[in-house]
Amino acid sequence: MLYLFSKIIMTRKQTINSKRKTSRRKERVLTDRSILEEIIRVDHAGEFGATRIYDGQIAVFGEKSKIGKTIKHMADQEQEHIEAFEKLVLNHRVRPTALLPVWNVAGYFLGAATAMMGEKAAMACTVAVEKVIGEHYHKQISLLEEDHKKLKATLKKFAQDELEHHDIGIAHNAEKTPGYSILTKFIEMGCKTAIEVSKKI
Ligand SMILES: [Fe+2]
Ligand SMILES: [Fe+2]
Repeated sequence: MLYLFSKIIMTRKQTINSKRKTSRRKERVLTDRSILEEIIRVDHAGEFGATRIYDGQIAVFGEKSKIGKTIKHMADQEQEHIEAFEKLVLNHRVRPTALLPVWNVAGYFLGAATAMMGEKAAMACTVAVEKVIGEHYHKQISLLEEDHKKLKATLKKFAQDELEHHDIGIAHNAEKTPGYSILTKFIEMGCKTAIEVSKKI
């Protein structure tokens, strides 16, 4: 009788332990909901800002100019990116940042202002923005677990596009802009601040 009783207790313990292990395993592969929300919110904001920067630059250079066509190629890719995040915002029921009207104006202003400084300065703006965004995407990829493989793949693809934009900027003599290092540091700082703010608000 005692043997039977201890056998039942042992079996129960084993069942509980195996359930605990399974649930721990499940916990490990699930992305934290608040992290997922932050990723989608901030990327939606960032891609929106990017489209506005290129809108501002194209408004100054014109779509038909040589540099305008190069910028249009990048702007078209940004359009794909923002459309993807618009879908993600809806599908995952994520609240977009309340600061979209700010990024609307700030992005356009940054694009137009750097374009008015010349082609090299416009490209320096691209180099600075895309450097921050590319790094930012790579950090996010490492935060997502296996339950969001598709989103991870999307971020990897977009990070490649941003790297291409960065390299286009370098190939167009961005680094020869007078005051390149101050200008890019200033823009990088602005982008990093915008990222931190857009995650929460
Ligand atoms: Fe983008
Ligand atoms: Fe980009």
